[in-house]
Amino acid sequence: MASPTVPPPPPQPARSTNLNQVHLDPLPQSVFTLPQTAQLEALYTIIRNKETSRGDFLFYSDRIIRLLVEEGLNHLPVVAKTVETPTGAIYNGLAFEGKICGVSILRAGEAMEAGLREVCRSVRIGKILIQRDEETALPKLFYSKFPQDIASRYVLLLDPMLATGGSAMKAVEVLKEHGVPEERIIFINLVAAPEGLKAFCTKFPTLKVITGWIDEGLNDKAYIIPGLGDFGERRYCV
Ligand code: URA
Repeated sequence: MASPTVPPPPPQPARSTNLNQVHLDPLPQSVFTLPQTAQLEALYTIIRNKETSRGDFLFYSDRIIRLLVEEGLNHLPVVAKTVETPTGAIYNGLAFEGKICGVSILRAGEAMEAGLREVCRSVRIGKILIQRDEETALPKLFYSKFPQDIASRYVLLLDPMLATGGSAMKAVEVLKEHGVPEERIIFINLVAAPEGLKAFCTKFPTLKVITGWIDEGLNDKAYIIPGLGDFGERRYCV
């Protein structure tokens, strides 16, 4: 009997080229990634897939955001606190020290606000809008609104995609102008490009960055590769 013919493998989708790869080895000490577990990779595979529905994109990106916010809270300072339990025993534990607030970089960063509110009840949230100046091509501040006592708070800065780092660096400059020291800012993002991460950490070496995944690089349109496309479009547009 003739052996069955094995069908040829399906054509592979074209890979992006033109990547200016920057290698971050070792990772700057101020950068913390989520544990790169199979579960996390499966979540990223869903949100990276262009066939994923908007509903699933919302659900699974929210799951990652929740993990990132929890990791961000691990970097807040704590002080010793002793409590008495209902058994009458004494428990020597810890309490968070200091107040926090979130600041979302509009518009995509707004998608991370709910995740922060889920774990920090009635947290204050500020907003900042930065766009490219048409004349200078540099990131320009268009709008900001912060809690009036922001200078005395720890700030969780929220933006899902760290691409070139231009908006995030401008946002940090604005926060510093409002009296927030670099050491009290924690920048949280879902996907980071090595070039943006390197530029950001070089400029602000003491500012902690929490990222879910570090990708390969940026393409010539400043999209992260492999990335997940335009986060705002996928999140907000049906
Ligand atoms: N912003 C996005 O939404 N996606 C990218 O890949 C880069 C910036």
